[in-house]
Amino acid sequence: MTLTSNQPVVRAVRPPGRLRAELLTAGSWSARHGVARVAMKRARKQGDLQATLFSDPAVRANPFPLYAQIRERGPVLKGSFLAATASHAVAGATLRSDAFGVVADPSTLPALPRWLMTRPDRTIGPVTPPSMLAVNPPDHTRYRRLVSKVFTPRAMAAMRGRVGELADDLLDRAERESRGEPVDLVSRYASLLPVTIIAEILGVPTEMRSQFIAWGSTAAPVLDIGLTYREFRRVDRAIRELNEWMSGHFARLRREPGDDLLSQLVRVENELTETELQAIAGLLLAAGFETTVNLIGNGAELLMQNEDQLADLRADANGWGNAVEEILRYESPVQNTARLALHDTEVAGVPVRAGTFLSVLIGGANRDPEVFDDPERFDIHRTNAREHLAFSSGVHYCLGAALARIEGEEALRRLFERYPNLAVAGRPLRRPTRTLRGYVELPVRLG
Ligand code: HEM
Repeated sequence: MTLTSNQPVVRAVRPPGRLRAELLTAGSWSARHGVARVAMKRARKQGDLQATLFSDPAVRANPFPLYAQIRERGPVLKGSFLAATASHAVAGATLRSDAFGVVADPSTLPALPRWLMTRPDRTIGPVTPPSMLAVNPPDHTRYRRLVSKVFTPRAMAAMRGRVGELADDLLDRAERESRGEPVDLVSRYASLLPVTIIAEILGVPTEMRSQFIAWGSTAAPVLDIGLTYREFRRVDRAIRELNEWMSGHFARLRREPGDDLLSQLVRVENELTETELQAIAGLLLAAGFETTVNLIGNGAELLMQNEDQLADLRADANGWGNAVEEILRYESPVQNTARLALHDTEVAGVPVRAGTFLSVLIGGANRDPEVFDDPERFDIHRTNAREHLAFSSGVHYCLGAALARIEGEEALRRLFERYPNLAVAGRPLRRPTRTLRGYVELPVRLG
């Protein structure tokens, strides 16, 4: 077709709504990642250890020597763009201190970040208020109270039978489908177990678990800092899609409530706004599987590499509980978190100014020689393995810790009891994330 002068010329103009949305996404990216990327690049050139930790690709694969260097420099290392600690004592004290919070009070922020943080159409992810992980008391206390009853150690102990049964079913299926060939332990087992269990607890359809896993793994880098704009957009889109699906699901539950946790939350709606409901549900779902998959994958790999310790577990199945604690300590699925000093304070004798962001290197604290003898050694018999901070400490202590422990124990014990000759059958591939540490692929021969 040729254009004549009286035909309208169609220009590829973006609809104003879309343009606005893109500008907002770009603004959120600059505030959270763009500025940090520039600062980190500059700081890394000057030898700043924190910047190296959060941006060097080689360190992502093995951050432990750098944690040791940071610890050697003192209890709190003040870098050019943030402070960090790899000391167990300081990490624990910071996480438990009410002088620190997870987020700044919006009223104390300059206009632009305040607006980005509070505008009604912002993307509500796990590290954005009102996610439980991103609010300070008293809001935090209110949200946590609504859900904590469901996750008590006692309530979770009642789930152990179901977790074990599911582990066996998944292994049956993996074996049938493998036909003697190597299988990817992560996609066939480690990821499916926790996503199915949390879906059952929350009351979201288990048939959607592949979609939840896809959203979860695309969104997982949200916990890291310094994402590229492209990565950030991908993450943002996945979180928005999950949130939209959640809203539709709440509407269904309002019409036909069940006995599950989300139906209960929908019922107490007068206590929660739709945004709060979305934030709680999204966090519970994602935290419920994006973390435990790493515990199972890391644990399987460590035990395949340490046959003598596996033999001890075979001889005494009572050792599994402590083995899971040591896996959590040695290869912590969540390697770091951060806290903000809400006012001038002191931690381990080091003065910390109000507004300082302190990166709490959980993976480093868990290898602190002040607490753990020979910390670089994996040892399932370590008597104080449980002193790790893998589930954090203080008011944000992991809500799902009891569930994760049961899932880790059942998944690993049943796997190795059934396949005593389980062996790595290809190159394990680590996740591309820094905060979450685990495998995306772990090819094994079931034996
Ligand atoms: C091995 C598995 C897991 C690990 C290593 C882990 C680790 C953590 C850590 C480190 C935090 C606190 C972060 C901070 O202090 O800033 C946390 C919080 C949380 N975790 Fe887990 N988690 C695991 C499994 C689970 C499971 C299965 C659930 C399911 C319910 C869950 C739900 C949560 C929730 C809701 C929070 C926020 C608690 C709050 O802010 O009060 N986690 N987790």
